[in-house]
Amino acid sequence: ILDIKGGPDEGLDRLGQKLVVKGWVRTLRAQRSITFIEVNDGSCLSNMQCVVNSDAEGYDQVESGSITTGASLCMEGTIVSSQGSEQKVEFSVTKVMMVGKSDPSFPIQKKRVSREFLRTKAHLRPRTNTFGAVARLRNALAYATHKFFQENGFVWISSPIITASDCEGAGEQFCVTTLIPNSQEGTKSPVHTIPKTEGGLIDWSKDFFGKPAFLTVSGQLNAETYATALSDVYTFGPTFRAENSNTSRHLAEFWMIEPELAFADLDDDMACATAYLQYVVKYVLENCREDMDFFNTWIEKGIIDRLSYVAEKDFVQLTYTDAIELLLRAKKKFEFPVKWGCDLQSEHERYITEEAFSGCPVIIRDYPKEIKAFYMRQNDDGKTVAAMDLLVPRVGELIGGSQREERLEYLEARLDELELDKESYWWYLDLRRFGSVPHAGFGLGFERLVQFATGLDNIRDVIPFPRTPGSAEF
Ligand code: 4AD
Ligand code: MG
Repeated sequence: ILDIKGGPDEGLDRLGQKLVVKGWVRTLRAQRSITFIEVNDGSCLSNMQCVVNSDAEGYDQVESGSITTGASLCMEGTIVSSQGSEQKVEFSVTKVMMVGKSDPSFPIQKKRVSREFLRTKAHLRPRTNTFGAVARLRNALAYATHKFFQENGFVWISSPIITASDCEGAGEQFCVTTLIPNSQEGTKSPVHTIPKTEGGLIDWSKDFFGKPAFLTVSGQLNAETYATALSDVYTFGPTFRAENSNTSRHLAEFWMIEPELAFADLDDDMACATAYLQYVVKYVLENCREDMDFFNTWIEKGIIDRLSYVAEKDFVQLTYTDAIELLLRAKKKFEFPVKWGCDLQSEHERYITEEAFSGCPVIIRDYPKEIKAFYMRQNDDGKTVAAMDLLVPRVGELIGGSQREERLEYLEARLDELELDKESYWWYLDLRRFGSVPHAGFGLGFERLVQFATGLDNIRDVIPFPRTPGSAEF
């Protein structure tokens, strides 16, 4: 359908062509001897209006009412000009073939259904306009991501999903193990039982990996190993966090894009984040016009203007210390009190981008070291680290990044200070022993980018199958 209607002439250039159209019935309107079937194949937002006359082969299926919303059809016919105001061309059908019937219980009928309801139908929601458009936009953003990094000489690295290290040190990891208790209520008798040592502790030597292993929270540490060999690299893959946050911005499984730049400092990192974000935003504005118009009309009014502004405008930069000053001077009453050393809450982030800087992305840098991860490079003041967060309106934190501590003695001291086990970071410390270089990188939550680009306010609606506390169906 995109092939036919996506051109500059909206299909008029294809008048008279004989074609086959395959797709799913969105609506069906029967008149006396003529039936209009709106068919969508997911290639674009537009449906194809298919006109079936009583002389079409297979018309009996139309007449008997066996073709209903949700059914899949294959139709032969010709492109003709349309009398309707909605489209320039329509499909005059000569033969209808039912591919798969749809039971009358098909839950997505013409009337509008809420996104909350559709979350319970995650297997069928891609058949709606909104979720079809989100899926295509997500695809375009992923493509633009690879395009941006490839054009700029970055090498894509596959970071592991199973790992023994906790990059963020926040203890929010899911454990991966073959040790399963044998007396759990409601589970069938498992293959393994949990072996205990004499002291009564879990005997991890009997586990598949021989020690606790986890789903990765970030591919950064692995990306650093490749950046200190291949120069600029990036990862793009799933990451996992067992944080019990039931918010519209948190998922237990989300995709992260993590570039890592060698011979680079925090300024290079911020420049890369800005160029990347502007590139992908421009890409979807230029290449996803139909879907963007849909979001602009139905999801967030004015989103096209807002994204166009972001694509051109210089981002605001300020230090954490200045951001705290700004919040302290704000007339607004915050639920979480503000003072130097506190982590910024989403109400603070929203105030900064939405009110203080009226819709412009803001990069905050040089955070107190106490609220940031162990690997960030200490600034000369001894109190802050070379960290940056990029905040955007409505979504809040879209990117978190930093210059990494490349000095062995500083890194070891920081691990000691945080009482982290230096032994388990031996390979990470090695990078500082053998040809260490200043390097920096960031992580961008891909779903938050999709939220930002579509205007959808709940993160559960921008990933096909959301994983959140208490919910792992489909
Ligand atoms: O700020 P975070 O925790 O940074 C890191 O993981 C670094 N290791 C990244 C790096 O420097 N390579 O996470 C990065 C981004 C956040 O800014 C946010 O967009 C997203 O990942 N994110 C989440 N997205 C959805 N659900 C969650 N639970 C998320 N946690 C973080
Ligand atoms: Mg962060």
